[in-house]
Amino acid sequence: MSDPAPDIRKADPDAIERAAEILRDGGLVAFPTETVYGLGVDATNDHAVAAAFATKARPDFNPLIIHVRDRAAAESLVHFDTRSKVLAAEFWPGALTLVLPRSPDCPVSLLAGAGLATLAVRAPDHAVAQALLLACGRPLAAPSANRSGEVSPTTADHVAQSLGGAVDMVLDGGPCRLGIESTVVDLSHEAPVILRPGGVAAEDIESVTGAIDFANGIDGAPTSPGMLAQHYATRIALRTNANRVAATEALLSFGAHRLTGFAAEMNLSPAGDLTEAAANLFAMMRALDQAEFTAIAVMPVPNDGLGRAINDRLRRAAHRG
Ligand code: TXA
Ligand code: MG
Repeated sequence: MSDPAPDIRKADPDAIERAAEILRDGGLVAFPTETVYGLGVDATNDHAVAAAFATKARPDFNPLIIHVRDRAAAESLVHFDTRSKVLAAEFWPGALTLVLPRSPDCPVSLLAGAGLATLAVRAPDHAVAQALLLACGRPLAAPSANRSGEVSPTTADHVAQSLGGAVDMVLDGGPCRLGIESTVVDLSHEAPVILRPGGVAAEDIESVTGAIDFANGIDGAPTSPGMLAQHYATRIALRTNANRVAATEALLSFGAHRLTGFAAEMNLSPAGDLTEAAANLFAMMRALDQAEFTAIAVMPVPNDGLGRAINDRLRRAAHRG
């Protein structure tokens, strides 16, 4: 941790107005969305975008998601074809990020898009994020508000722990409702591809697009930015699909079970509900990531609906260098 004390403000109208001012001046404001907290900067300001990369210590080939209020706001940044219009109509505001061709006159920093011909855009479904976008009047580039390689923050305290005073302000809007990042779909080619499973289930997207492919996961070569194997690594070891647990391990359980003899336990969802599990995932990974345990043993999580995103994050956390 570098700078100690971030300015955490309850996200009331005054704080949002002040945050918008900071953003227009090129500053960094962490803000809540329905998925995770974002580290927001003015997407049209190269210096601010560079500061976001530096603050996250993020490899600069990994482009950022550009947050907008709605499709009308996105129209000036990227080109929508028919299917992306339908997807935006169906899922925005919401946890779906669309990767689309940049428009010729797109004002977004090339650095934010890592120099690619495409741009990732999404309209967040959160009153504070929407109010901030309105007050600021600019598209906001916002990666998750954590240092690169740490799990995404789902509370203002997580942001403070990860980024400290490196951000100018943290808008506290309480815990994030979904707790897992958005689904990223690449629509820049004829066949749509899910680059990152996330808060909108693939099955729901397929009901609009028809069958859709997943980009190679971490076992293949990274086919896209955003497939960094260690993006979500915990400090201590983490193993998935655990059907037994050692006395020195922390158990991250799912649903009802009969495992005993662990050092600590948190349950992603005692009722076996994948939405509840997604909301708890990052906070519980953080809470159990303690040097006193030899590892985090994670019980199997079903690989459908949001379970796919959960398993993706768990596999990344488990793949340590
Ligand atoms: O839920 C979320 O998506 C959160 C909140 C704050 O909106 N944001 C987030 O941003 O998770 P970040 O920067 O941590 O992840 C962005 C993902 C990365 O996997 C990145 O590689 C991918 O989106 N991405 C962004 N632009 C892209 C592009 N032009 N082509 C392919 N992938 C892109
Ligand atoms: Mg991230």
